[in-house]
Order: sequence, then structure tokens, then C-alpha cells
Amino acid sequence: MRFDIITVLPELLDSPFAHSILKRAQKKGLTEIVVHNLRDYSTNKHKSVDDYPYGGGSGMVMTIEPFAACIEKLKAERNYEEVIFMTPDGETLSQSIANELSVKGNIIILCGHYKGIDQRIRDLFVSREISIGDYVLSGGELPAAVLVDAVVRLLPGVLSDETSALSDSFQGELLDAPVYTRPAVWRGLEVPQVLLSGNQAKIDEWRYDQALERTKSRRPDLLK
Ligand code: ADE
Repeated sequence: MRFDIITVLPELLDSPFAHSILKRAQKKGLTEIVVHNLRDYSTNKHKSVDDYPYGGGSGMVMTIEPFAACIEKLKAERNYEEVIFMTPDGETLSQSIANELSVKGNIIILCGHYKGIDQRIRDLFVSREISIGDYVLSGGELPAAVLVDAVVRLLPGVLSDETSALSDSFQGELLDAPVYTRPAVWRGLEVPQVLLSGNQAKIDEWRYDQALERTKSRRPDLLK
């Protein structure tokens, strides 16, 4: 699965994809993440990618041409199943959207800045608009990194324990149960005895009960 991310701040995306699970997934050839500098597609002598809004008002609007040039170049090279625009007025990212995207082939992600992007880019090229939550960030880069992380960890072979993505909070309808590691006692605080019992059936039952309790108290909306 390949992601092409189009941005005016490619450096902002250097780190999120260069470590840990995302780094390993790329090394293993399970995903390819390519970041494109939008300014490289500006034909303007100042390499500008924005302009004043028609009708006046504050803030600059990102222009059509550089996005169109980059998207059309990519589309001439391979097929894309989605062109996603990261925007606070999109549908809110959820585990089910991440699951849906994880079975796609190639995806283009557009990162906006300033006041937004010319509506015609959205009308003409964008197949899906996604928000990572009801708050406004300075640009679409961090949201794009969040989206790619949520999707890549679902690709077969990315996580060493194949079942571990399936047992994540939100993958079923329950949040995760609490987890513990050594030492068994720290400043008088003990790990629940059942986890040290070696009785797997009892442990599974305890985890289920804890997950249910946690979901009831924190996210009752997840329980149907
Ligand atoms: N760009 C700015 N804020 C955003 C958000 N919350 N989600 C997606 N893209 C954004």
C-alpha cells in the first residue's frame, strides 16, 4: 500500500514515519510513504502556492495549479483509490474508517494550510475529507501522520503479533483492560493476583470484566 502526501511542509513529516512501527513497515516493503513538496509544482517565479481570497476576508487560500499538477502527475504513474483531504470539516476519523482504508491500494493525501484550499480542488480531485477531531490545527500534516499511522499498523505483517491490532481498544466494542508489568509490587501497589495465577481462563475473564467496566464508565456510548 502506497501513500503520497502532498504538503508545503515536507520536513514536518520526516520524523513521524522514520521510527518504530512505521519505519519497520516501510523497510519490510509493506508500505511506501512518499512526501511531495507542493512548492515543486508551482510554476510561479516565487514558488508561491497561495493567493488572496476572492470576496475578501482574512487569510490566504491555497491555489489550484500546484495541487492539480502534482495529483495529475501521480495519477499518470499509477492508480489511486482515494484522494483524501485532511480538514477539520471532514468526517471524523474512527477505527472503522482506518479499517476501510487499510484494504485500499494507493492513496493520495492533501494537507491544507492557511485559510484552506480552493474549493475546486475539493470538487474535482478529492474523494474523501477526513478530520482527526473537533479542533483546528495549523495544517493537515499532523492529521495526515495520524491517519497513516492508524492505517499502516493494520496492514498484515506490520505488527509482530498478528492478533495485537485486533485486540486494540476500539477494534471491538470495548476499551482495553488495564495492563501491568514487573515489578509485581511497587511502593506497596500490587499487580492484581489473577494476572500472576497462570490460569488463562481466569485471566481472560478478568480482562473482559475490566474492559467492560472501563467502557461503561468512560465510553458508555460504545456499548450498544
Ligand atoms: N487541519 C487542521 N485541523 C485539522 C483537523 N482537526 N483534522 C484534519 N485536518 C486538519
